[in-house]
Amino acid sequence: MRLAQGRAEKETMTETFLYHPPLVHFPIAFSFLEFLLLVLGRVKKNDEYFRFAFLTFVLCLLSLPFVVGAGFVDLGGFAGLRNDRVQRHVFSALTFAVINLIRIPRWRQARQNPGASWASLAAGAAASALLAGLTGYFGGFLID
Ligand code: HEM
Repeated sequence: MRLAQGRAEKETMTETFLYHPPLVHFPIAFSFLEFLLLVLGRVKKNDEYFRFAFLTFVLCLLSLPFVVGAGFVDLGGFAGLRNDRVQRHVFSALTFAVINLIRIPRWRQARQNPGASWASLAAGAAASALLAGLTGYFGGFLID
């Protein structure tokens, strides 16, 4: 696994470049921003916030293949999944991805009038933000 290789190399003062860490903050930031914008749209009664929330949802989805792909590259493929801490992180990450895929039809239906579907959009965005935070928390245990 490239992660273990990275740790071993650190002792000899050479570093392995990891692709995942520079990318992981995008889905985390987009999912938190989506929830915040939905709350602001409701409080300020302004649909512009909902339009921006939809954009952050799309950007979060678009970032996922790169983040997940980079995670597996850094792991050195599926062999890296034998580690318990990695499994916990990957399970949480895949749950995060699935929750967001399930939310696509909800957003598609709600786009014309997001205010009317606010509760379900906000509940989905809150679940997404919580899972993003949890996934990042578990990911932190994989770093020295
Ligand atoms: C199934 C897909 C994923 C795999 C295989 C994976 C794998 C890894 C690995 C191996 C690390 C250790 C650092 C590295 O080698 O790059 C890590 C760290 C981390 N991962 Fe993931 N990851 C996945 C998905 C995600 C997702 C979707 C998120 C964000 C929501 C995420 C957030 C993080 C964070 C925040 C860290 C700590 C990085 C740091 O502190 O710089 N990961 N992950």
